[in-house]
Order: sequence, then C-alpha cells, then structure tokens
Amino acid sequence: MKIVVTGGAGFIGANFVIHMVKKYPEHEIINLDLLTYAGNLENLTEVEHAPNYRFIRGDIADRKFVFDLFEKEKPDIIVNFAAESHVDRSIEDPESFVRTNVMGTTTLLDACKEYGIKRFHQVSTDEVYGDLPLDRPDLFFTEDTPLHTSSPYSSSKASADLFVMAYHRTFGIPVTISRCSNNYGPYQFPEKLIPLIISRALADEELPVYGTGENVRDWLHVSDHCVAIDLILEKGKVGEVYNIGGHNERTNLEVVKTILKALDKPESLIKFVTDRPGHDRRYAIDPTKMETELGWKPQYVFDTGMKQTIQWYLDNKEWWEHIISGEYSQYFEKMYGERL
Ligand code: NAD
Ligand code: DAU
Repeated sequence: MKIVVTGGAGFIGANFVIHMVKKYPEHEIINLDLLTYAGNLENLTEVEHAPNYRFIRGDIADRKFVFDLFEKEKPDIIVNFAAESHVDRSIEDPESFVRTNVMGTTTLLDACKEYGIKRFHQVSTDEVYGDLPLDRPDLFFTEDTPLHTSSPYSSSKASADLFVMAYHRTFGIPVTISRCSNNYGPYQFPEKLIPLIISRALADEELPVYGTGENVRDWLHVSDHCVAIDLILEKGKVGEVYNIGGHNERTNLEVVKTILKALDKPESLIKFVTDRPGHDRRYAIDPTKMETELGWKPQYVFDTGMKQTIQWYLDNKEWWEHIISGEYSQYFEKMYGERL
C-alpha cells in the first residue's frame, strides 16, 4: 500500500507519519509537504532513514505538481493534513487559508478523480461546528451538529469538508472525514497556546491570555488522534464523518496555571490581553461514534499527557529554541507587540 500523507512535516502530520512508518513496515509512507513556516523536517529525524519512508517537497494547491505526483506514484491512500492551521494568522491573512485549505483540498480531490484512489481521508477540525455556550456543559458536538463557523480558518476547513462530501456524492470518491478537538504533545509549533506558554514561562516572559481566560478547549494527546485516524483508514465507513475527542475540557486559564505549576513559575507572569476577534467560547466533542463503531478509546489522561508533554519541551529545548530564534520572533512582535 502506498500512503501519501500531506502536511507530514507539521505537528500532527509528523506524529502520524512516525506512527505509520513504525507500525506498517510493509506500507510505503510518502510525506508530501511544502515546508511552510510550520513544516519542519527536524520533526521526522526518528524515521528519516526508514526504508518505507520518503519525503517530497511540494504544494497541494499546485495542480501540475499534484497531477504529476499522482501519475508517477499512483498512491492508494491520501491522508490530508496539509493546511494553514493557526486561527490568529487566518484573521491577519484569510486568503492563504482559502488557497491551501480549500483549493489545495479540491486539487487533491481532482487528482483522485483523475487517477483513482482507494481512500481520501480529510483531517478536519471540531472548529467547523462553531462554538458552544459556556453555561451549557450538557451540550457537545456530534457528527450531526450543523456547520457554523466563526473564523476564516474554520470557514476554510468547513468549506473543504463540503467539497470532500460533494466529490464523494457526485464523483463517487471514497472519502472519510475526521473532526478532532485541540491536540497537544511533541512537535507542536510554539505559536499555539501550550508550547507558547511553556517556552515563554521558561524564559520568565509575560504569558498572553486572551480576554478573561475562561474560553474552554477540549484537549487530546496527539498520539490518540493518530491512532484514531489509523483506525478510520482501517475500519471507517466510506462517506462518513468521525468526531475525535477525549472529554478533557479545560479553561485556558486552567491550562496556563497547570503549566506554571509544573514549571514552578509564578502566576504573576500571566497577562490578560485583548481578546481574539470572534473568539470561540467552548469546544466539546462527543466521541461516541468513534468509541462504539470503531472501538477507539484515548490512552492518555490529560494530567499525565501534559506532564509528559512539558517534559518533552524541557528535553527538546534546542528544537523550539531554533524555531523561536528565527522569523518567529518577528511574528510574535507583529501579533502581540501592542497587546503586551
Ligand atoms: P501545522 O500548522 O503544524 O502543520 C501544517 C503542515 O502543512 C506544515 O508542515 C506545512 O508545511 C504544511 N503545508 C501548509 N501548506 C501546505 C501546502 N500548500 N502544501 C503542502 N503542505 C503544506 O498543523 P497541525 O496543527 O499539525 O494540523 C494538521 C491538520 O490537522 C490541519 O489540517 C488542521 O486543520 C487539523 N487539526 C489540527 C488540530 C490541532 O489542534 N492542531 C486539531 C484538529 C485538526
Ligand atoms: O479545536 C481544534 C483547533 O485547535 C485546530 O483546528 C486548530 O488548528 C488549532 O490551532 C487549535 O485552535 P485554537 O484556536 O483552539 O488553538 P490555539 O492554541 O491558538 O488557542 C487555544 C486557546 O488559547 C484559544 O481559546 C485561544 C487561547 N490563546 C491562544 C494563544 C495563542 C490565548 O489565550 N493566548 C495565546 O497567546
């Protein structure tokens, strides 16, 4: 089986590539990634010399490149992680999100239509469902919750999902979609809340918490996400959507305080800053379908997973120091300069 993983040099994609390369020596795993600011081949040193692994640099929105790749490689499965993934960046520059997340996905689908595919799996997000109120802990996102997006990022992901389903219904492409909640774990780019707070707390820098810090996210360890996608490829039903989440809801303030406690840093580092425009209040996944139909259960509990993750960032300082010393410092100044 030849499996092309797009966006395999990013946070979740790299964890998924490592999982698949190690678990399936009989499958060939091709990592197709443009290496944008978020793509980093250092995430893949663990498997870079594995005989069943290959890296190809390219853009999923470049039609000629994608069609040539399909012509040459004739992949059996596509797992599409490639995306612009950061909500704050989508507020600054929506168009790049349309290009990669929407047009990149339709370009891949067109190639599947032309050359055939056994499965196209779209890695989507719980953000396509919009948000839930803070005072209704009884409400959760199910696969039937209507799409109702807030940010340019979530709108681009929802749009891609609609195209995936349209290509299934109209052209018979064998697709599946997964919608996961917030991931944490090794190799997450330090623009996202958890690695941002860890790296800044270690440097005794102010920790920007948007608004009041009461917004709720539903955290899942990246390994549990990777196992879930593997299971959907194996047992998932074509044409179906699967929600992935582990019932680990925390306010942002709780997450930040957990990190400060683990690092023995003072809460006085917290700085409440101007809220993210359109900030989603609460995400919470109902994972019943994954659990009952596919037998998936997350392995990590949040507290242990967070301890291990914090330790990983302590043990791999070089990895993130390398990132934050580069163009990232200009990004931070641009996004946070006036807020802090
Ligand atoms: P990331 O930003 O860390 O990685 C994205 C990767 O895609 C990078 O390696 C980048 O180089 C690559 N890429 C970007 N544009 C490309 C293009 N045009 N062609 C080829 N490669 C390109 O993202 P992530 O956090 O690992 O998220 C991966 C996927 O999972 C995304 O589709 C995202 O929407 C989804 N998702 C993320 C989370 C989360 O918590 N991070 C949760 C649910 C779903
Ligand atoms: O729910 C899945 C989504 O989770 C994915 O689809 C996205 O790709 C991923 O980026 C993530 O989106 P969020 O916006 O939830 O993640 P982020 O880490 O940017 O922010 C988490 C919460 O923390 C959110 O409520 C905003 C807040 N926040 C974030 C940053 C970067 C802060 O308070 N301060 C910050 O500096």
